[in-house]
Amino acid sequence: FGAVCAAAALAVAGIAWSGGAQAAEYVIKLSHVVSPQTPKGKAADIFAQLVNERLQGKVRVEVFPSSQLYDDNKVMEAMRLSRSKTVGLMAAPSLSKFVKFSGQLQAFDLPFLFDSIGDVHKLVDHPVADKMTDPLKSKGLRALGFWDNGMKVFSIKGPKPLMDVPDDFNGMKFRIQSSDVHSEMIKALGGTPQKLPFKEVYTALGQGVVDGQENAWSNVYSKKFHEVQDYITVSNHSYLGYLLVVSEQFWSNLPAEIRTELEKAVKEATMANRRFAAEADSGDRLKVEQAGFAKVVDMPVEKRKAWRQVTMSVEDKFRDEIGADLLKEIHQVLD
Ligand code: LMR
Repeated sequence: FGAVCAAAALAVAGIAWSGGAQAAEYVIKLSHVVSPQTPKGKAADIFAQLVNERLQGKVRVEVFPSSQLYDDNKVMEAMRLSRSKTVGLMAAPSLSKFVKFSGQLQAFDLPFLFDSIGDVHKLVDHPVADKMTDPLKSKGLRALGFWDNGMKVFSIKGPKPLMDVPDDFNGMKFRIQSSDVHSEMIKALGGTPQKLPFKEVYTALGQGVVDGQENAWSNVYSKKFHEVQDYITVSNHSYLGYLLVVSEQFWSNLPAEIRTELEKAVKEATMANRRFAAEADSGDRLKVEQAGFAKVVDMPVEKRKAWRQVTMSVEDKFRDEIGADLLKEIHQVLD
């Protein structure tokens, strides 16, 4: 009964119950910033469940959602510096937050690079993706898998939806993740970018510190951004996805058979994540529409063309940092 109560209390707090009373040789603390009912939150919980069932007594995974343990930038620093061989830190920060660790990963942020999530899968399932994650190893991080959220939409508090560029962006400030590519994209669209951690976005929108933001549907819905915004433009202008990473020190010290089991669980959680992301893309959009706060507006093809046109310079600006040859390969994979 005690365990049931404890599990219920933890569920309320949003922390995965992992049989905490049971001792395990290794503990993995999986920290993320979104709510448990998002594609990332659900995949993290499935990973924990699989590992905790299959490796009972050997490995215990504890999930900390909603920035409870760390925000994304802090978790990567903590992961890099971590020296523990028995307690490992794991996280799934968005690909946009890796700029300090891999200039190559910035390619994922390029506006209009992907036409759909199918395109994203072509890239992450191709060996060229390894070239983008390889630099992480020497920086203390081991990449385990790519997880989806979805294509991003733009929201705004203002008299009309974002549609005409640059006029509708003029004089408007937009919260962005800590990505220089996003910063240049917002400027190219005509707006002013402001980097802010995810956990501050709702308040910043509510208090008018920023006028708008860009995100995938599950984040808009679960963090209630639509309640403090007037319009959402379904721009699908770029991708929001994640890289599941663990501290290299911890990972390389694990027995090989445990690593193999963990990799298997990551693969299964990744497949589940893709399903959750596809569901959230239409399901959370519908919930936002039904809630009746922000008005959702689709984007006509010619407007999309205009957005693509004004943001084309962004790729040129980052060609050297990403790597001209790599960028060429990426385009070949996507063609
Ligand atoms: C954001 O900061 O908007 C996203 O990266 C949050 C997330 O992890 O989906």
